[in-house]
Amino acid sequence: MYYIQCLFLNKIMKTIKCVYLNGKFLPPDQALVSAFDRGFVFGEGIYEVIPVFGGRPFRLAHHLARLESSMAAMRMHNPHDASAWDEIFARLIKEAESAGTGDQSIYLQITRGAAPRDHAFPTHNTTPTVFAYAQPLNPPDPETLASGIAAVTTPDIRWQRCDIKATALLANALLRQQAVDRGVAEAILLRDGFMTEGAASNIFIVNNNRLVTPPKGPYILPGITRDLVLELARANQIPCAEEPVSEAHLLAAEEVWLTSSTKEILPITRINDKPVGRGKPGPMYARMHALYQDYKRAFRQGEVA
Ligand code: PDD
Repeated sequence: MYYIQCLFLNKIMKTIKCVYLNGKFLPPDQALVSAFDRGFVFGEGIYEVIPVFGGRPFRLAHHLARLESSMAAMRMHNPHDASAWDEIFARLIKEAESAGTGDQSIYLQITRGAAPRDHAFPTHNTTPTVFAYAQPLNPPDPETLASGIAAVTTPDIRWQRCDIKATALLANALLRQQAVDRGVAEAILLRDGFMTEGAASNIFIVNNNRLVTPPKGPYILPGITRDLVLELARANQIPCAEEPVSEAHLLAAEEVWLTSSTKEILPITRINDKPVGRGKPGPMYARMHALYQDYKRAFRQGEVA
């Protein structure tokens, strides 16, 4: 088992030739962080995952704005301005492209840095640990898009600041593993009888030709893909709303989708072993998927920012 994991790790290392760590671009096996880093000891850090299409980070301004609010929640300053981030990303993208990668996703993580262990913030100024890399991003395969994925509902056991994109993801990992243990792709989370989001995605439902997703607040991550879907719906006169979605509404929905930067928009066609609507991707999904792909095409051609 350990041997298999090492082989897998080696394979990942082969696809990632270069990482950024604290001002340096390094081969991954030379990127070393202190064992006293508060990210390691307390899981105290924040992150972003940014898709890269045609060599350019997608919805970058939105990701950087969310990074800024995650950092403010951690009571830290953003170590770089937008142009410095741009330079770091451009170099990582170039390195990944020279290794033969097409579309990519950038992972970026910031922690407060190393300090003697104490729950309270260090009294002296620590140097933040800034880590980033680009890796290949494959779009969802056509079979998955044609048949949709299955999900289960489960109680949302997370904390009350799910709006922070925090690296402390133990609860999310436990929840996603519940889905994997039950042979499905995602866990849809319920809090006090209402849907919040997926373990690693936002969720939309369609009822009476109307698209609905829960409003932003402390119990969901303000997803960049979620916002783009709403933007595309509004620009194309698709009725949509940000409203609480009860468990009963979720289970009676005609269509259910998940959204995320890496999965884009995926139809969920089975929940708790029962079909959603007719058990296949619905017409509203087909329309939004086409709008999203058109938007990506326009982005690749430099027609949208
Ligand atoms: N996760 N909600 C949660 C809990 C998430 O982890 C994610 C994405 C989303 C969707 O956000 P966005 O559209 O900005 O990707 C919602 C990323 C992809 C991850 O952790 O890998």
